[in-house]
Amino acid sequence: MSAQSAIALVTGGSRGIGRATVEALAQRGIDTIFTYKNNRDAADQVIAVAEQAGARALALQLDTSDTPGFTAFADLLRHTLGQWEADRIDFLVNNAGTSYSALFPEVTEEEFDKLYRVHFKGVFFLTQTLLPLIADGGRIVNVTSSVTRIISPDSMSYALMKSAVEMWTVYLAKELSARRIAVNAVAPGSTMTDFSGGVVRDDPEVNRQMAEATALGRAGRPEDIGQTIASLLSPENAWITAQRIEASGGLML
Ligand SMILES: NC(=O)c1ccc[n+]([C@@H]2O[C@H](COP(=O)([O-])OP(=O)(O)OC[C@H]3O[C@@H](n4cnc5c(N)ncnc54)[C@H](OP(=O)(O)O)[C@@H]3O)[C@@H](O)[C@H]2O)c1
Repeated sequence: MSAQSAIALVTGGSRGIGRATVEALAQRGIDTIFTYKNNRDAADQVIAVAEQAGARALALQLDTSDTPGFTAFADLLRHTLGQWEADRIDFLVNNAGTSYSALFPEVTEEEFDKLYRVHFKGVFFLTQTLLPLIADGGRIVNVTSSVTRIISPDSMSYALMKSAVEMWTVYLAKELSARRIAVNAVAPGSTMTDFSGGVVRDDPEVNRQMAEATALGRAGRPEDIGQTIASLLSPENAWITAQRIEASGGLML
C-alpha cells in the first residue's frame, strides 16, 4: 500500500451494489473514484453521500465494454488522481454490469457478445490497462454471482461470463502475487437493485420467492454486498486471496 490515504476505483458506482460499495468504503474513510455509464445525476448523489460520510469521491464516465477507450480512461484516471496528489489506486472493484436472461435456444449472438464485452472482456482488459496504476500490496475484487453455483437455466450465458471471471480471479491472484496484490471474487445472490429491471426489489412475488429460498430469510440489500466488499478490502482481511466469497444470505443451500 502507498503512503497516500487509501483510494478505491469502483466501476458502476452510480447505482446498486457499486453505489453501496462506495458508501461502505466512505464510512471506513476510504476515498473513491467511481465510474458511471449514463447516470451523471445518480453519480452526483453518490458523491454527496460519500462526502457526508467524510470521504472524498469523484465520478468518471466509462463504458466498461468499450475496450478501445481504456487507454484514454487510464490517462483520465491518472490525471484525476493527480488532483488528490496521488499516483496510485489501492483497490479496484470490477462491479459494473447488466443482466441478460434467455434459455439456450433463444440466446442471440448479439446479446452473448454484449454480455461478454461487459462482464468478461471489459473486466479483463480494463484491469490489464490499469495494472500500472494499482499500488503494490493493493487489492482487486471482482463482482461475480451466485449463479456460478446455482443452476438457473435462463442465466446460462451470464453465468458463463461470471464463471470465467472466477477462474481468472484465481489466475490473476497467482500472477499478481509477485506484487503482493490480493485478488478475490464476491458473488452476490439475488439483490434488490435496478438489475433485471429491478424485479427482485419491485415484484412482491419474486421478492417473496427469493426470501423463501434464502437461509437468512430475505432478499439481499445492496448494503449487504457493499459492506462485504468494503470488509474484504479492510486491513483485517489482508490475508485472503484467490477466493470466491458468496454473499447471498445462503441462497438455495
Ligand atoms: N442485483 C443482483 O441481484 C446481482 C446478483 C449477482 C451479481 N450481480 C452483479 O453485481 C454487479 C452490479 O449489479 P447491480 O445489481 O448493482 O446493477 P444496477 O443496480 O443495475 O447498477 C449497474 C451499475 O453498472 C453501471 N453499468 C452498467 N452497464 C455499464 C457499462 N457497460 N459500462 C459501465 N458501467 C455500466 C451502471 O451505470 P449507470 O448508472 O450510469 O447506468 C450502474 O452504476 C453486476 O456485475 C451484476 O452482474 C448483481
